[in-house]
Parts: sequence; structure tokens; C-alpha cells
Amino acid sequence: MTCFRYLIAGNWKMHGTLSQTREYLDTLKKLLGEDPGAEVVVCPPFTLLAEAVSLTRGSPIHVGAQDMFWEDWGPYTGEVSAPMLKDLGCRYVIVGHSERRQLFGEKDREVREKVKAALKNDLIPIVCVGETLEQREQGLTERVVYQQLEGSLEGLEGEEVQRIIVAYEPVWAIGTGRNAEPGDAQEVAAFIKKELQAMYGERALGISLLYGGSVKPENIESYLEQPDIQGALVGGASLDPHAFASIIKIASKRG
Ligand code: 13P
Repeated sequence: MTCFRYLIAGNWKMHGTLSQTREYLDTLKKLLGEDPGAEVVVCPPFTLLAEAVSLTRGSPIHVGAQDMFWEDWGPYTGEVSAPMLKDLGCRYVIVGHSERRQLFGEKDREVREKVKAALKNDLIPIVCVGETLEQREQGLTERVVYQQLEGSLEGLEGEEVQRIIVAYEPVWAIGTGRNAEPGDAQEVAAFIKKELQAMYGERALGISLLYGGSVKPENIESYLEQPDIQGALVGGASLDPHAFASIIKIASKRG
């Protein structure tokens, strides 16, 4: 997908003002320089996307949105579409984040519509899957992840499959400081890749898989050491440009 071995994406969630964004991106650009050695993506809230695109133009930092609606235009009050994000200059969009699934009732069928709309509009969807603590404790991790993959990603056509990125984010590891054991994350990452290959054959071979859930500079390397993990989706630690840049630098040294 990318020419780098690793992709590091920062999900700011509902954080940030215009002035903070200016300061943040100014610092991040200085810390990373012209060749960060990894694909770098920041995903601010909708209100900051235009500013983020403008401030990162000509730099190696790409901008992604945190969600979108699947229709292109129409009477959908409060929604934002893929053509709008593309028009702004976004390159990525996070789809099916567990916070959207849990807090806003988003279903696999809706995630699938969003993935298709993103691809149709030349955006790269970062599709999130992951189990809750209860599901893990009941031994349901693979079943839940399989259902999310099948429900969110079936029916992709041709080379569309090669343009998606999958993020494995165990819900219990998000924002809790309790990151998954790297070996456990690898186990699920390998399962996801196997299932994607069962769905799409050889076309699924190049799909990048990210780990997300309490990633920080202190633990990033242990994930990147895993054979089926090609990067990270970082929440809390991405809010500090110094911590985010440290994560990217560790990825870059390996890449
Ligand atoms: P934290 O890194 O804050 O756990 O968040 C992970 C996440 O949800 C990224 O999308």
C-alpha cells in the first residue's frame, strides 16, 4: 500500500482547537524533518481537517478523517461525505472505530457502506475491528473479529482489496493504559490475515495491519517486531507531538 514498511496513524478523537493544531503540526514537522522513514497520518476532528491539510502540504504528513457517511451528497444533517473529505485533501479515513460502534451504535453493514464509499472516492479506509474484554474472557475473540471482518469487508471488488488497511484494536486496550500483550496482538493479527486471504485470496496478501490500544513510545517496538503487524493506530499518545514523533522514529529505525 505504502512504500514504507510501517504506517503510524494518530487518532486525535475529539481533541484539538485551531491554535493547538497549528502549534502541534509545526512541532511535528520540525521533529520529523522531510523524511520520517514511515508513512505518517494524523486524524484530527472534522473542524480541523482543512487547517491540517493546509499546514501539512508539501510535508510527508498525511491527513485522515475519523469517520464519514456513505452517501456522496444529500439531506443527511450533520454528516460529512467521502467526496467532501477528498476535496479537502484527506488521504485516509478511519472507519468502524470501536467508539463509533459502541457509543453510536454503528453496525458492520454501515461500516461496509463506508468502506465502499471511501474506496470509490479514492480515500484509503483504515477499518477497525476488535473484541471487548467480556468477549475475550469468554473466548470469543476470533469469532467476534471474524464477524466484523466479514460484515465490514465482504463484497469488495478487484484491486479495491489492496487499498484497505485493517486496524486491530482490542476495545479493552483503548484508552486504558492496558495494552495487549504483543504475542496476543500477533495471534489475532495472523488470524485476521488468514481470514482476509480466505475471503480474497492472493489479493489480500498486501493488506497492512495496524495494532491500536495504549500504544506509546515505550511499547511500540514490541508490536512492530511481530510479523503480521505493519504499524499502529495511536490515540492518547498521538496528542503529544513529541511522543508521536518518538513512536514514528522507532518505526523508522526498523523500516
Ligand atoms: P489509545 O492509544 O488512547 O488507547 O487509543 C487507541 C485508539 O482508539 C486509536 O484509534
